[in-house]
Amino acid sequence: MRQIHICEVGPRDGLQNAHHLMPTEAKKAWIAAMAAAGIAEIEVGSFVPPKLIPAMADTAEIVAFALTLKNVKTVALAPNVKGFERALAAGAQKITFPVSASRQHSLANVRMTPEQMADEVKKCVQLRGKVGPEIEAGVATAFGCTMQGEVPEDDVVRLAVRLAESGVDCVALADTVGYANPAQIRRIFRRVKSEIGNKLEAAHLHNTRGLGLANALAAYEEGVRHFDSSMGGLGGCPFAPGASGNVITEDLVYMFESMGVSTGIDLDKLMEARKLMVAAIPEEPVYGHMALAGVHKGFRAAA
Ligand code: COA
Ligand code: ZN
Repeated sequence: MRQIHICEVGPRDGLQNAHHLMPTEAKKAWIAAMAAAGIAEIEVGSFVPPKLIPAMADTAEIVAFALTLKNVKTVALAPNVKGFERALAAGAQKITFPVSASRQHSLANVRMTPEQMADEVKKCVQLRGKVGPEIEAGVATAFGCTMQGEVPEDDVVRLAVRLAESGVDCVALADTVGYANPAQIRRIFRRVKSEIGNKLEAAHLHNTRGLGLANALAAYEEGVRHFDSSMGGLGGCPFAPGASGNVITEDLVYMFESMGVSTGIDLDKLMEARKLMVAAIPEEPVYGHMALAGVHKGFRAAA
């Protein structure tokens, strides 16, 4: 029984910011290995202009491959209607949109203001109609922005409410540049939850200042049960100066499992998947305490 849900975002958030391209066949083998380890949701790529992010040029092929795997929800990111249409055509089961609360980051990332981007998401919800993939809106830079600095909490709450009202299935809060601290996580998740209830779903955390796990625990204690993370701590938004990797999947799994909170993920198999990832981009810096130290003596996974 899975008590928390981890969405592995390494193939998207990780590889979009990597210095080295992972060959398509290696991506497939890595994704398959993560699925075999029990990761039930994988964000496999993004439908952005290939010229902008060459690492995402093969996303349609990767989505098609991921759809052949059992027990995995195939997620893709789209930045606009065109990306949404490409994701629909490829068959993505969940489509996530980056909607930045920082005006400066939003303009740099998607060339739209937060309000324009919220309207773009609304158009996609309407295009989907009654059937179609799940739609998530991720409120990016919800805890601060390297360009704008402070992002007012009221802006985050207002944007989350607007997105929830536009008909998305779920809203995530993202610490795009690793500015959040646990007290802020508690405060903002609580505020947004009081406005949009269970539509608030995932915490998308980056580990830029080492607070990824502390922030994940704070979110868990606020009732969050969905977490994005990336294997080896790859990641970062190429259009947010100073952005670096996500909270590390292996370490997140270890933390929750050792607390007795089941993730449904087999840590040994996860470490095997990590070896495939490292072999496919050997010069890329990767992180993780599990890879260095392993589990403690007497470790038992949660039942
Ligand atoms: N996929 C593929 N091509 C796309 C596209 C998409 N999602 N969206 C636009 N394009 C194409 C257009 O057709 C046009 O092509 P052309 O030059 O051959 O006519 C070209 O890209 C420019 O289109 P335009 O609508 O003017 O886009 P833009 O240049 O203003 O860029 C975004 C807007 C949203 C496409 C771009 O900023 C983007 O992809 N941002 C996402 C960045 C990202 O992935 N960040 C990390 C994740 S948070
Ligand atoms: Zn991210």
